[in-house]
Amino acid sequence: MTARPYVVLSAAMSVDGYLDDTSSQRLLLSNSEDFDRVDQVRAESDAILIGATTIRKDNPRLLVNSDERRARRVADGKPEFPLKVTVTQSGDLPADLKFWHHGGAKLVFTVDDAAEKVSATLGDLADVVSAGPDVDWGFVLDELGRRGVKRLMVEGGGTIHTQLMAADLADEVHLAIAPLLVSQAAAPRFLGTADYPGGSTSRMRLLEARAIGDVVLLRYAPKERG
Ligand SMILES: NC(=O)c1ccc[n+]([C@@H]2O[C@H](COP(=O)([O-])OP(=O)(O)OC[C@H]3O[C@@H](n4cnc5c(N)ncnc54)[C@H](OP(=O)(O)O)[C@@H]3O)[C@@H](O)[C@H]2O)c1
Repeated sequence: MTARPYVVLSAAMSVDGYLDDTSSQRLLLSNSEDFDRVDQVRAESDAILIGATTIRKDNPRLLVNSDERRARRVADGKPEFPLKVTVTQSGDLPADLKFWHHGGAKLVFTVDDAAEKVSATLGDLADVVSAGPDVDWGFVLDELGRRGVKRLMVEGGGTIHTQLMAADLADEVHLAIAPLLVSQAAAPRFLGTADYPGGSTSRMRLLEARAIGDVVLLRYAPKERG
């Protein structure tokens, strides 16, 4: 049995806890220095995971952007880009999204009912793994560990972060707090309502608090609770 990866949840949120607003344009919460920090965290990861809604809505390329960081990965014997991973229940992931056409290898976890559709849509653009009737996160982490992923960065959205936090599968949380107020009930939040381990009185250990221009980075260890 191979070890599961070390899981880092990474998000930028407004002071009132939102990941985005309800407009069709992606809300930029970080500043350029913080986006560069995120690029470094990506470069240190073996795989990066995002939810299917974020792929459809933001249409990200999800790359390590710095030439130097990619060159260092290659010099260290790693692939130039981390593995890009997503999960989908609906299987609704069109082949023309940028996610499939930039960077290195891609992997999709889906359910038995959608696996054929995803494979037919994506062809050789991605490896498709069927996780059974549901996508179980323990299964996902076991499979990533089996594929040699030691460090997994999860970049959201909130649906994904909520499930991993509730299942106590996050080793670290990186939260960049931006000086913005979204205040739109329908906008996505960093974390939704869930039965979180330890309940509302359980304090996570703070690993770091750092100002990055007008953004504040907080790093927590959710499994190390008081
Ligand atoms: N500020 C930030 O750091 C940041 C980062 C990322 C995203 N965002 C924002 O967050 C928003 C999207 O977040 P979101 O919470 O709505 O969606 P999301 O977490 O990106 O994706 C949710 C989707 O992932 C799939 N999924 C999740 N859990 C699954 C499971 N256990 N089994 C199978 N499939 C599963 C489903 O896809 P199907 O619908 O295909 O079944 C589900 O609808 C966007 O507005 C984006 O801009 C912000």
